[in-house]
Amino acid sequence: MMSRSEKVQHNAQLSSDMTIPQHIAIIMDGNGRWAEARHRPRLFGHKAGVDSVRDIVETAREIGVRYLTLYAFSTENWKRPDGEVSGLMSLLKTYLRAELNTMRTNNIRLQCLGQKKRLPADVGAILEQTIEETQNCTGMTLNLALSYGGRAELIRGIRELAKKCMNGEISPDEIDEQSLDDALYTAGQPDPDLLIRTGGECRLSNFLLWQASYAELYFTEVKWPDFRKKQLIEAIVHFNERQRRYGKTGAQLQVE
Ligand code: IPE
Ligand code: IPE
Ligand code: MG
Repeated sequence: MMSRSEKVQHNAQLSSDMTIPQHIAIIMDGNGRWAEARHRPRLFGHKAGVDSVRDIVETAREIGVRYLTLYAFSTENWKRPDGEVSGLMSLLKTYLRAELNTMRTNNIRLQCLGQKKRLPADVGAILEQTIEETQNCTGMTLNLALSYGGRAELIRGIRELAKKCMNGEISPDEIDEQSLDDALYTAGQPDPDLLIRTGGECRLSNFLLWQASYAELYFTEVKWPDFRKKQLIEAIVHFNERQRRYGKTGAQLQVE
């Protein structure tokens, strides 16, 4: 007999009674190993990963996801060899240049989570341009996490609140979850409902530490270049089997 999860793998299909997560966040991992398995340089894997980005952005928009957050480059990724870092930056530039029109046509608003100032000037410029030219798009928000680290984001937010306290705008006792939320890159956005990590590792690697506190976590062995529409649908079908209890008991949820 097939287990429940095996059944899902075989007939993963969305049905009208399923909930589409409002916000999906993805740690796109496994490009390097995907390429190494094919005896190709790591950058070959990153290039193939860009095709997955296109496919997943298109699918998410099509099925009605409102926020899609993609972890593309972490604060720690600056420690990689120079050639890999510059290769990634150049892919990013090409991607943004090529996608600007598609984003506008598909009504997708681009946002960046992370230290924009650390990016090379040419990448920063096309990023700013894309953000500006898509700012009124309402179909879906695509957050690219670039030079992003959850801890750095929290420190930045806490500093902002500390400054407001120092200049008398707020008192320390007024600081609550909402004010910290508002001081993060994701201000005004709902928390992720579903957090996916491809590539087989089961860790957060400094991603959305605050925002993911109640996200359903989904880890898959599939490496990012192989993660396409089919695999995203599978993850959403799994998500629909979860019961989000937020600290309550299952019985309490049934009477609500
Ligand atoms: C994810 O793939 C992409 C980035 C971190 C930029 P990796 O490059 O981490 O691939 P693996 O984990 O080495 O296979
Ligand atoms: C996480 O992947 C960062 C991104 C996907 C951008 P890493 O490959 O950098 O994570 P670790 O080093 O395995 O934790
Ligand atoms: Mg990795």
